[in-house]
Amino acid sequence: MSRVAYVVFSATTALPVVIAHRGASGYRPEHTLAGYELAARLGADFLEPDLVSTRDGVLVARHEPEIGATTDVAHHPEFTDRFTAKMIDGRRVKGWFAEDFMLAELRTLRAVERIPALRQRNTLYDGRYPVPTFGEVIALAARLSDELGREIGVYPETKCPSYHRGIGRPLEPTLVQALREANLDRPDAPVFVQSFEASSLRALRPELKVPLVQLTETAPLGPADFAEVASYADVIGPDKELIVPRDATGRSAEPTGLVADAHAAGLAVHAWTFRNENHFLPTDLRSTAGRAGYGNALAEYWLFAELGVDGVFTDHPDTAASAISETVVPQAS
Ligand code: G3P
Ligand code: CA
Repeated sequence: MSRVAYVVFSATTALPVVIAHRGASGYRPEHTLAGYELAARLGADFLEPDLVSTRDGVLVARHEPEIGATTDVAHHPEFTDRFTAKMIDGRRVKGWFAEDFMLAELRTLRAVERIPALRQRNTLYDGRYPVPTFGEVIALAARLSDELGREIGVYPETKCPSYHRGIGRPLEPTLVQALREANLDRPDAPVFVQSFEASSLRALRPELKVPLVQLTETAPLGPADFAEVASYADVIGPDKELIVPRDATGRSAEPTGLVADAHAAGLAVHAWTFRNENHFLPTDLRSTAGRAGYGNALAEYWLFAELGVDGVFTDHPDTAASAISETVVPQAS
């Protein structure tokens, strides 16, 4: 059995898989082939593209339909008239939107660092990399699997699927087609498909053979919630603070029973998002190196591994892989 299948179906006995959150986002602008490739070379098991649609219905890797925060579109005068405001999932969003660009137009843009104040070093790569298609991410994972001699998987997320359905660009059929064409719709394929929206996963369940992941940032979760998720998904992907909450001062508090409850319902647990910078760490793991400096990220991975999580979404795959390589998880008797 591949390591991936083992992790899904024997969730409590394996080390966590390392999921490259939007690429190696701690080191390169997110959702770029350069970031994904670096992530695999640094030890990631999976590349995570969030998916949105172009005007011509091509799936591309972006965290949200609005592309002004992660590309140089604002510096393209030919697209000034595409600036607009839209309601997305109940929020009014201003900017430029992937669905208003043909793929060929989108490809004239270049990625930029989303959080330059924290990741100034990544701005070195601003303006260098185009927006990748999902097909390119799949091809990259295949090439790197051959080259590195280990399976590099893909872990796509349908972003704002109801919104995309509403504008006549449903993500699910194109995603299914892409996975089938790549011979990745197999139970043992190195693929997970994730979404925050249950409706998207329910639509995909009868179409796909790969494991599905219900993302959540909502607490509390009771036994009925886990049973409900287990009826259409294989993994739950919680915000890590649903597993280790923080107190009013930002310190780590007592862990919840989420991991055990999920496992009892037959669900694996892939938690997000792990990052090295003090800004993102609980106060008890921060160093004195300032907001952008690194704290004791290793200790955070060790804690979550000990708590039994089955996967970690990370911006720093090397740190995750290093921590996990030093983790000893008790084997089931
Ligand atoms: O998909 C898991 C995690 O990435 C969810 O957060 O907002 O980065 O897609 P987000
Ligand atoms: Ca995501």
